[in-house]
Amino acid sequence: MKKKLGEVREVELPQIHDFRGDLTFIEGNSHVPFDIKRVYYLYNVPVDSERGGHAHRDLQQVLFALSGSFRVKIDDGFDTTDYWLRDPRKGLYISQMVWREMDSFSQGAVCMVLASLPFDEADYYRDYDMFRQAVSAAN
Ligand code: TYD
Repeated sequence: MKKKLGEVREVELPQIHDFRGDLTFIEGNSHVPFDIKRVYYLYNVPVDSERGGHAHRDLQQVLFALSGSFRVKIDDGFDTTDYWLRDPRKGLYISQMVWREMDSFSQGAVCMVLASLPFDEADYYRDYDMFRQAVSAAN
């Protein structure tokens, strides 16, 4: 049996388009399925940089490419899937207990992250084997 502990899905935001340009907005508990407690962004990322490389015990996040593009490699402990973020209207929801790695950042890419909790290092699995063990223990 595969008891997945996490969930990943694409999120599409509204877009208000007129001749002055495009506007997209995000409301917590509506466009993203949690209260937004923290926002951070990655920028000035070298094109050969690898980010992420962790999972979270409780944290939920939604990632967006506000500018440029990058790849998000997802591993739920059973299956791996690659997502490419390149449209500021389309985000990637990543729940607790999902391993993620990001790479292939384009020049000038900006990754904005909405998070359901304040920063807490104790919430991280930074060791892939420990993450896999936690998934296995639940199965
Ligand atoms: P980390 O989560 O490992 O970055 P990424 O997943 O993007 O590769 O965080 C890098 C460093 O920044 C680490 O020392 C923790 C610190 N940090 C904070 O202090 N607050 C935050 O909100 C975040 C996301 C990271």
